[in-house]
Amino acid sequence: MKNLIIIFLLSIIVTLFTNNVHAMDINIKKGNKIDTQTSNNNSHHLNDNEDISVQDDDNFYLIFVNYTSIANETNSEKIHNKRHEENREEFIDSVMDEIHDLILDNLDTYKKPEAVEELLNKEKLRKRDDQYYFGTVNKISSFKEITVLTAILSSNLTDSVKNINGIYGCVPNQRFQYHRFNKQDIIDETRWKKIAMRKTKDVHLSLISQGKYNPDLISKYDNTYYYPEHGGNNTKIVIFDDSFNFKHKEFYNPNRYTGCISGWGEDGEPRKIYDYQDCLVGYSIYPNHGRITADLAAGLEHGVAPNADIYGIAIENTPTFIAVIKALDYMYFYSNMFFDGNNRIVFNFSFGDYFNRKKQFVPYFDYLENFISFLTNYGIIFIASAGNYNQNVYNVTADKGMLPCLFEKVICVGATENPYNTTLKNSDELLVNSYRKAEFSNYGDGVNIYAPGYHNYAITNYTDNKNVEGLFSGTSGSAPIVAGVVATIMSEHPEITFNFDSMLTYLQKISIKNAMVDIEKDHPSNYFINNGKHVVYSEDDFYYGCGINAGYNRCGRNLCCASDGYCVKDEYSCKVQNGCQFNYGICKFK
Ligand SMILES: *[C@@H]1O[C@H](CO)[C@@H](O)[C@H](O)[C@H]1NC(C)=O
Ligand SMILES: *[C@@H]1O[C@H](CO)[C@@H](O)[C@H](O)[C@H]1NC(C)=O
Ligand SMILES: *[C@@H]1O[C@H](CO)[C@@H](O)[C@H](O)[C@H]1NC(C)=O
Ligand SMILES: *[C@@H]1O[C@H](CO)[C@@H](O)[C@H](O)[C@H]1NC(C)=O
Ligand SMILES: *[C@@H]1O[C@H](CO)[C@@H](O)[C@H](O)[C@H]1NC(C)=O
Ligand SMILES: *[C@@H]1O[C@H](CO)[C@@H](O)[C@H](O)[C@H]1NC(C)=O
Ligand SMILES: *[C@@H]1O[C@H](CO)[C@@H](O)[C@H](O)[C@H]1NC(C)=O
Ligand SMILES: *[C@@H]1O[C@H](CO)[C@@H](O)[C@H](O)[C@H]1NC(C)=O
Ligand SMILES: *[C@@H]1O[C@H](CO)[C@@H](O)[C@H](O)[C@H]1NC(C)=O
Repeated sequence: MKNLIIIFLLSIIVTLFTNNVHAMDINIKKGNKIDTQTSNNNSHHLNDNEDISVQDDDNFYLIFVNYTSIANETNSEKIHNKRHEENREEFIDSVMDEIHDLILDNLDTYKKPEAVEELLNKEKLRKRDDQYYFGTVNKISSFKEITVLTAILSSNLTDSVKNINGIYGCVPNQRFQYHRFNKQDIIDETRWKKIAMRKTKDVHLSLISQGKYNPDLISKYDNTYYYPEHGGNNTKIVIFDDSFNFKHKEFYNPNRYTGCISGWGEDGEPRKIYDYQDCLVGYSIYPNHGRITADLAAGLEHGVAPNADIYGIAIENTPTFIAVIKALDYMYFYSNMFFDGNNRIVFNFSFGDYFNRKKQFVPYFDYLENFISFLTNYGIIFIASAGNYNQNVYNVTADKGMLPCLFEKVICVGATENPYNTTLKNSDELLVNSYRKAEFSNYGDGVNIYAPGYHNYAITNYTDNKNVEGLFSGTSGSAPIVAGVVATIMSEHPEITFNFDSMLTYLQKISIKNAMVDIEKDHPSNYFINNGKHVVYSEDDFYYGCGINAGYNRCGRNLCCASDGYCVKDEYSCKVQNGCQFNYGICKFK
């Protein structure tokens, strides 16, 4: 497991370096562009990086010739004889000859004359006066009165070329950046085998597949959910909850299993399941709870892992101590399908409360905790929610803890605010404020990670059997989001058997550390769930900042890309050891 994380990081670094390797000897600086319309500041998505160093090297140049300007100067004595010709072709030829001669006469000004010599040995471009012409100059385009030539020039030659009559421009060849909304970039970063993405209004999905949104750095929040294409395929999410309905279109995909596998009464007795795709045993005060959370974990439109298998364990009313032990025990002793040694299973516990473990409950919680710890060795990951009391998950005064969230081998999930209504004005403000604990969420050292606390869902209402869409809030919806991310990780890495420790380490590693502004920096709970994709794109592809926080954009003119994605020019931020992002601007090494 540890190996995997190291490989993950290394491969990012390798990718960054390989981006810098130029395919040619001739130095064509990456990230520069020819665009006379771009502003000189950094507010445009394509930078006008006027890196002066490019002028010091040999380079391909584009040479612009205006035929009209010369044709009308027929009286000027400075003009080469041939230019008296009305014939445009000949005029251009004469210009090309002149540049060609200039190059040959000044090979000593080149840093790498080999590059020019190689061109001389290349194919014969034209035949003129019975002589083959070996060109160093190429004609690449003509439009109206303008002809565009290319040639490799040393920096010393550019002035002489510009002085040739008819030539009004000599521009070094530069590169455009690829439009950075680029699947390959995401694959390079995440190492996902294949990527899927879809536009969504569900901020609970878009927030977890990008780094921290900062309106200073990008123009428009990216309402897209990116995830590995398998979507949790061949992973089992086991949900303990009150009711399930897998007949809803959120579960229409044919290639996964969905079903209620067992039902348990308050007394620990099995309850009959009449319909394995639509179940509720006995009675529940919130009969849609399980339907909604199942949708958030694995629904096609609203779920994090839309291809995961879902096993519903229906528990009557709210789970009793007996029902929980019975259900777990049943799964362990009677169900080979779960413990076949090749498990990728996430258990989401739909229960929890504050209990004092030191009193009469000691044997129960010790048994349950040990049982769970034991099962995690089989590659089963347990997730539970932190609760909605706006309290510490461990109440010191009362000496009570939120269980099972606080169990040693259970991932305990808190909730964050998040803007669920994208039609609201000033959504930037809402999005920025979404990186804080939800008002209702429990918190504290015992919380392992936070996930969005407001969620769009679509279900069939248990009460009237109508299809409804709605907004859910609570840590109950945050836990299945983490369960879904865990499923996609397991599915992406079938070769690894995760246990609690390795999964939590992995989750925290790929999460956004210190994202929540109202939780202390470096607090053990200050991690915001992320599925591994951190590059932040702008929906309209306009960027103000740089690097991974701003679509891998480069900073303009002599600016450096600070660790936080701002393009700046200050001593501290521009040092590599202070996190200056050297691929996206000019960093100093000491
Ligand atoms: C940058 O350029 C844009 C567009 O030209 C302009 O609106 C903006 O005020 C400029 N910002 C700065 C800091 O110069
Ligand atoms: C070309 O030269 C003519 C005559 O000098 C001028 O009117 C025209 O604007 C020039 N074209 C370009 C693209 O510079
Ligand atoms: C030269 O200039 C005259 C006007 O000064 C214009 O009418 C004519 O078209 C130009 N010649 C060419 C070849 O463009
Ligand atoms: C280029 O020109 C500069 C000044 O004009 C001169 O000092 C330098 O030696 C030249 N370089 C070469 C390679 O000729
Ligand atoms: C899921 O896995 C099965 C094989 O186990 C494969 O046939 C199917 O194409 C996969 N589906 C997706 C969406 O990856
Ligand atoms: C802790 O428990 C006590 C006693 O049940 C209760 O009064 C208090 O509100 C709880 N919360 C905190 C944060 O102390
Ligand atoms: C979003 O907010 C707008 C404006 O307040 C309101 O009209 C709309 O009903 C809200 N939508 C949801 C889904 O809450
Ligand atoms: C389900 O239907 C009942 C009865 O019509 C209604 O009171 C309830 O609000 C509905 N629940 C949801 C989540 O739409
Ligand atoms: C996950 O567990 C939490 C409680 O720990 C519960 O509120 C939520 O409904 C469960 N989600 C699913 C998908 O079962």
